Amino acid sequence: MRFILAAAVIQAALTTVADAAYINYTTVTGYFQQDDPITNATTFDYTTTNLGLINRTYSADCNTNNLTQWQRFARELFRLNLEAPTNVEYKLLIMGRHGEGYHNAAESFYTTPAWNCYYSLLNGNATNSWADAELTPAGTKQAQIANNFWRSSITNQKIPIPQSYYTSPLQRCLATANITFGNLTLPSSKAFKPTIKELLREGISLHTCDRRHNATYIHKTFPSYTFEANFSEADPFWNGVTGETSAAQDIRSKTVLDDIFSHDDSTYISITSHSGEIASLLRVLGHRTFSLSTGAVIPVLVRAETRSGNATSTSASWSVSPHCTAPPVTSISTATTMGGCVCPNSATAVTTPLITIGPFRK
Ligand SMILES: *[C@@H]1O[C@H](CO)[C@@H](O)[C@H](O)[C@H]1NC(C)=O
Ligand SMILES: *[C@@H]1O[C@H](CO)[C@@H](O)[C@H](O)[C@H]1NC(C)=O
Ligand SMILES: *[C@@H]1O[C@H](CO)[C@@H](O)[C@H](O)[C@H]1NC(C)=O
Ligand SMILES: *[C@@H]1O[C@H](CO)[C@@H](O)[C@H](O)[C@H]1NC(C)=O
Ligand SMILES: *[C@@H]1O[C@H](CO)[C@@H](O)[C@H](O)[C@H]1NC(C)=O
Ligand SMILES: *[C@@H]1O[C@H](CO)[C@@H](O)[C@H](O)[C@H]1NC(C)=O
Ligand SMILES: *[C@@H]1O[C@H](CO)[C@@H](O)[C@H](O)[C@H]1NC(C)=O
Ligand SMILES: *[C@@H]1O[C@H](CO)[C@@H](O)[C@H](O)[C@H]1NC(C)=O
Ligand SMILES: *[C@@H]1O[C@H](CO)[C@@H](O)[C@H](O)[C@H]1NC(C)=O
Ligand SMILES: *[C@@H]1O[C@H](CO)[C@@H](O)[C@H](O)[C@H]1NC(C)=O
Repeated sequence: MRFILAAAVIQAALTTVADAAYINYTTVTGYFQQDDPITNATTFDYTTTNLGLINRTYSADCNTNNLTQWQRFARELFRLNLEAPTNVEYKLLIMGRHGEGYHNAAESFYTTPAWNCYYSLLNGNATNSWADAELTPAGTKQAQIANNFWRSSITNQKIPIPQSYYTSPLQRCLATANITFGNLTLPSSKAFKPTIKELLREGISLHTCDRRHNATYIHKTFPSYTFEANFSEADPFWNGVTGETSAAQDIRSKTVLDDIFSHDDSTYISITSHSGEIASLLRVLGHRTFSLSTGAVIPVLVRAETRSGNATSTSASWSVSPHCTAPPVTSISTATTMGGCVCPNSATAVTTPLITIGPFRK
């Protein structure tokens, strides 16, 4: 008994030592066009550029006859990991933004200021719902383009197939991942068995499109998907009153990356997420800003180095912001703190959600 206690004390001491370590992420540039400052994100098309993989030679090149650029890249990435010190690891994250959702269509329809200051706080209008928005037909088509891209790249370019798949719990990402990968012919070791991760969801604002369904509903809609451990039945974050700041979002983006990098040995990892969340992941990874259009995909070659010491920031608070409580007056165009949106009365911070939290459909 005494021996077991001693072992427990040693275990506790080891845990303390292990805790004083953090992972530093950097983007390895020079392999993909997206991390090159001269590449214009607005006009860049991953489907016509081999996902942005640059034609070049690598240190690992040898007997490269008839190997595709992706096959040679895979050897190069293998070499990087082989030669890396034990506290350094390289992975290729392939991050896809969901196809167009009903919330995206509504933002265009109402214009961004009016969307942000009022309509985004509703579940939908008389024709469409955008709470936990589903894909529009155009969004489905964008995911089908990704599906075609993967099918042809696997066959013709021998692009490495993801070894693991993660997705945001929001419906538009669950559907995008399914359309993209669900019917590809894949070896069983790389089968499409996605894991739903809470922290890959979009930045949590007051918008109802950032609220997720309960786990029961998610399971009913995508029964083959796996939930990460401890995924809660109810949405633990969205409240319709306070929103996550960028600083808070970056901290949770780092948390989810730490989780993936600490528990997943895969080198090629697919993530299906959102514009705001991928932007946050890019910040944490030290990648330049690169905005993705709906349905677009970006690869990032990541170098993860475990260092001793404590990471700097661990918490940041959420904030409230002013909103209209009735449809805005859209005829006035003077820019204001509301981004050009003018409320019929003075704008106030909402203290209760504009909707009844319960049903997602109006
Ligand atoms: C990671 O390390 C690099 C190089 O030492 C440093 O420039 C960067 O700020 C670090 N990133 C973070 C998030 O600590
Ligand atoms: C990127 O392309 C867009 C669309 O053609 C253009 O408006 C913008 O000026 C370009 N940006 C740069 C930095 O060239
Ligand atoms: C890269 O190489 C491929 C195959 O040789 C070629 O088809 C493609 O046009 C090249 N791309 C660029 C940007 O040079
Ligand atoms: C490369 O492929 C071509 C056409 O399939 C073939 O004729 C040639 O022998 C191959 N070269 C090598 C080194 O395998
Ligand atoms: C609801 O919003 C959609 C855009 O998402 C728009 O096409 C439609 O006309 C709107 N319906 C009403 C009744 O305003
Ligand atoms: C897979 O899905 C795509 C897009 O939905 C479709 O065009 C294609 O025919 C499907 N392929 C197979 C093999 O089912
Ligand atoms: C997911 O994709 C598979 C394969 O294409 C399809 O059979 C299934 O119906 C899809 N599920 C949903 C919920 O879209
Ligand atoms: C889960 O969500 C569905 C759809 O919104 C709802 O009908 C159901 O009552 C919810 N289940 C639980 C246990 O809350
Ligand atoms: C799940 O929750 C339990 C109990 O709080 C905790 O011990 C465990 O570490 C959690 N697992 C994960 C993967 O977060
Ligand atoms: C890390 O933080 C812990 C607890 O806050 C502290 O005891 C420890 O000394 C710190 N380690 C380093 C290397 O700063």
